Amino acid sequence: MTRLRLAVQSKGRLSEGGMDLLKKCGLRFAYGRDRLHQRAENLPVDLMLVRDDDIPSFVASGACDYGIVGENVLLEKQKGGGKPADLEIALRLGFAKCTLKLAAPKEGEIRSIADLEGKTIATSYPDLTRDYLAERGITVDVVEMSGSVEVAPRLKIADAICDLVSSGATLEANGLEAFETVLVSEAVLIRRKGEGDAEIEAIADILKRRSEGVIASAQTKYILLNAPTDRLEAIKALLPGADAPTVASVAGRDDVVAVHAVCRERVFWETLEALKAEGARAILVLPIEKMLS
Ligand code: PRP
Ligand code: ZN
Repeated sequence: MTRLRLAVQSKGRLSEGGMDLLKKCGLRFAYGRDRLHQRAENLPVDLMLVRDDDIPSFVASGACDYGIVGENVLLEKQKGGGKPADLEIALRLGFAKCTLKLAAPKEGEIRSIADLEGKTIATSYPDLTRDYLAERGITVDVVEMSGSVEVAPRLKIADAICDLVSSGATLEANGLEAFETVLVSEAVLIRRKGEGDAEIEAIADILKRRSEGVIASAQTKYILLNAPTDRLEAIKALLPGADAPTVASVAGRDDVVAVHAVCRERVFWETLEALKAEGARAILVLPIEKMLS
């Protein structure tokens, strides 16, 4: 029987989120010793646990059918030309969000990309960095490093760096300050362009549909509250991304109604405080486990 071979990162920034997504998609894996290969028990999917740098070329060469990889890695490999150029994003996965940024020592004179002309930049993304600056008419020397890029300015290996930033803690700890965003990235599901094997694509469709449901439900919440009848319109207007809330009567009360709504946008504390200020009471925000529409 045909099984879809899916490449995921074995360890690093995407591995936990990737496995978490697959588990939420209902995939069960036998607890095995094999760290390279895992077989789903309840869907014809085999995981190949590999280094993220290798994922684009494994999918491009046909060793794997699909892969979960950071968009940053995908785009860097695609700039390099060759087979990864034939890859496409099948689905954006909404986790492992980060940015690729240019940064330089806080106290130094580099404050914008114009200051980079003729300077040396350390990065694990040489093609993305060089192209981004070349498109803006700036020529730099690029020193490629496979990790610990943030130490390069202190070691006088480079004047500035181009590196991934998520919390910003690494830059802060190394006395660096970002001044330009080169790329905004997240985890993506990739495949080879073109038609593909029909059976593989049928399995991929199941995975994609379930992933979409997981991604949508992650930020969707179910809100329940009691609203003063005369403030109902104002309260409905405050509910983030709710299509048509259900309004029900509250037993024994005609001054208050119960409102139930599915909110498709993040619900912040500020929203709840604004609802309360309009007179809403007994506000509950519940997670939604699964969604299929
Ligand atoms: C990235 C990046 C920084 C760090 C940034 O490294 O190169 O070192 O994460 O994250 P922060 O803004 O939350 O501090 P990664 O974890 O991918 O490992 P690597 O440096 O070994 O490539
Ligand atoms: Zn790093």
